[in-house]
Amino acid sequence: MKLVATRNKGAKDILPADIHKWRTVEQVAADIAECYGFKEIRIPTFEKTELFVRSVGETTDVVQKEMFTVTGTESSFTLRPEGTAGVIRALLQNGLMNEAAPQKLFYFVNCFRHENVQKGRLWEFHQFGAEMAGSHSPAADAEVICFAGDILKGLGLQNISLHINSIGCPKCREEYYKVLREFLSPNREKLCGTCQSRFEKNPMRILDCKSDICKGIAEGAPLITDYLCDECREHFKRLCGILDEMGVEYVIDPKIVRGLDYYTKTVFEFISDDIGAQGTICGGGRYDGLIEEIGGAPTPALGFAMGLERVIMAMESQGVEFMPEPGCDIYIASMGENAQGQAMKLIRELREAGHRAQGDVMGRELRGQLKYADKIGAAYSAVIGDSELESGKVTLKNMKSGEKTELPLLPLADFVDKFTDISMADMFDED
Ligand code: HAM
Repeated sequence: MKLVATRNKGAKDILPADIHKWRTVEQVAADIAECYGFKEIRIPTFEKTELFVRSVGETTDVVQKEMFTVTGTESSFTLRPEGTAGVIRALLQNGLMNEAAPQKLFYFVNCFRHENVQKGRLWEFHQFGAEMAGSHSPAADAEVICFAGDILKGLGLQNISLHINSIGCPKCREEYYKVLREFLSPNREKLCGTCQSRFEKNPMRILDCKSDICKGIAEGAPLITDYLCDECREHFKRLCGILDEMGVEYVIDPKIVRGLDYYTKTVFEFISDDIGAQGTICGGGRYDGLIEEIGGAPTPALGFAMGLERVIMAMESQGVEFMPEPGCDIYIASMGENAQGQAMKLIRELREAGHRAQGDVMGRELRGQLKYADKIGAAYSAVIGDSELESGKVTLKNMKSGEKTELPLLPLADFVDKFTDISMADMFDED
């Protein structure tokens, strides 16, 4: 029969051999989040479609082309294409906005976007993200940017450049949209269908179109940076000043517009040249209008998200070290029924004492058991048979060096204590 259990190309299995890489990133990100005073939040995988339409924006590629949506007779639900909208919805719905400002949350989420699959671009991918609500100050922007940068640095990544820009507020955009429309209008008919529909509502989105024709038409378009209102210009200047004082390197990149509509003022991206065309590892910015847009009191907010597949790809390509794969400290082989029971008891006690201990559950002969111990990379092995039970002694073997040491088998508790008091290496030194 044909195998029906095949996976689709837009999603990836994360196999046991790679889990330590994910754990490395998750641990470093969570530790740094806590240093910055962010608390973790976990939200549902899907939300009402309307939430994403209102927040991400109806003229974005994400909403127009990429959402996984289930529509019923009364409501429509969508698998989250990103984490911000759901986190802000949760903040509002659970009364967390009443706590002392700023509210600071971080999250790990899987996200879904029906994009053209390529290296670093999947239908289901994972993000680590953080959101801070309540502050207008450019100091908050600097804090959030440094937070993201510290994670990348903490993971050992190098050659990641930080690009920042300000895309202003609705006030600046009024004037800017006028000049941008003027610039684009001679080629309006040549724009792709999606961009033609964006022309009136949100012409800035045309600058972010993936079609080569639209990219060509947008070449040399006026930049929002030249149309910032006084407040936005001052905010951006102050942010740059703080980053300079903190010694954070960045490039001002007036071409960053970001693919989601909720951004105002600061936007930023961390980019790597080591992972191919999809080099944006992390993106974020300020979204001062979003909370009000989805029903809260007007509250400034900002955040970022990094794509974990891309982070891991960059770490792999730079040869960065991950946490070691979880291994086996000791394998206790047994011969005969009596010994098997004793071995399992001993293994359990070792585990209770925090050691990674394994034994035979396959009914293998001794040779097979030791071969298996070798295969799983056990650091030490011991064999328990009738003679060990009789003598009350067991021989521990260092699987790497072959060195053997005799230790008392009983009482088991003492034996376990010996393991817990000193490391295995020390135990050998002692003899
Ligand atoms: P975003 O730029 O759409 O921003 O996504 C953030 C990161 O997710 C990207 O920089 C990239 O690393 C990764 N990513 C995006 N799409 C894919 C994909 N199809 N396959 C693999 N990785 C992908 C946001 O999602 C905003 N919510 C970030 C934010 C939080 N802004 C403010 N707060």
